[in-house]
Amino acid sequence: MNDKVTCYAPASVGNLSVGFDLLGLAIEPIDGSYFGDRVTICAAEKGAQALQLSFDGQYASALPSDPAENVVTRSLDLFRTQLGISSLTRLSIQLTKSLPIGSGLGSSASSIVAALAAINRWFGDPLDKRGLLELMSKVESSISGEKHFDNIAPSYLGGLVLCDSLDAPPQFLSWPDSWQIIVAYQNTQVKTKDARSVLPDSYPRNVLVKQAASLARFVHGLNSGDLELAARNIVDLVAEPYREQLLPGFEQAKRHVLHHGGLAAGISGSGPTMFAIVDNAEKANELAYWLKENYAGDGFVKLCKADRTGARQLTGVELEVH
Ligand code: HSE
Repeated sequence: MNDKVTCYAPASVGNLSVGFDLLGLAIEPIDGSYFGDRVTICAAEKGAQALQLSFDGQYASALPSDPAENVVTRSLDLFRTQLGISSLTRLSIQLTKSLPIGSGLGSSASSIVAALAAINRWFGDPLDKRGLLELMSKVESSISGEKHFDNIAPSYLGGLVLCDSLDAPPQFLSWPDSWQIIVAYQNTQVKTKDARSVLPDSYPRNVLVKQAASLARFVHGLNSGDLELAARNIVDLVAEPYREQLLPGFEQAKRHVLHHGGLAAGISGSGPTMFAIVDNAEKANELAYWLKENYAGDGFVKLCKADRTGARQLTGVELEVH
């Protein structure tokens, strides 16, 4: 058994506009920095409680103070129930919370994925990928109210992933190396539950047909190398028309991005972060600067690419630079 396990899971852009609840992209900053939460497990000091939970990182203070509400505790409880682990040797678990909560960057998914990846490794990898994804989605649904995989799957598996349930294996879609993704986070919180409550329960048939056509053209564009077709079809008739009212300045920012060389723009997950896709480094820098000045306020803007690895165990020097 390892005497210490640290796992990291990247931020992600859920929905990517065109695939509500079924598509998500794991992201990493192009400057090589980490952009996701990490969880470290080791044996606790003698005399400590059976489970010692601690938090650090930039957004640790925003975590719920009741440990029972924390996703790490929920992840461990569910894991133990699933595997029938009734007693615990003393365990210390530290969550390094580097993603803002309620940001639309897959913050809770990142914590859950890092936690369950680390817990599984600590206990000798008893669960396979499918088993872990199932558990991850259960913890996620205990927070957002519904099961959806669009942050969990990419954060765990890496890249652009299509996954609507575990009835079918997750599909990896190609993501062009030339596409950069800018994420602009306003320093406000939108709870996924609240952002879901503004959506209609049903949609007119013509909307369903248009959205299905866009998703099909997006995937066809990626597969055939017609990136202009793919980008043009990153559209959202399901959530964006109802959610943009929750995001001050979003409509104007999106218009600016599309008129100044951005290939596509939309709401990252359930917001308030917005994303923009750009295939030119100079334009990406210009748009990132504009978004920082005009959209993000006292939040942040990051210039990213696809994170093709997903969750991983950090060892040696990786631990020092995180
Ligand atoms: N896809 C979900 C939503 C979760 O938009 O409500 C956010 O990633």
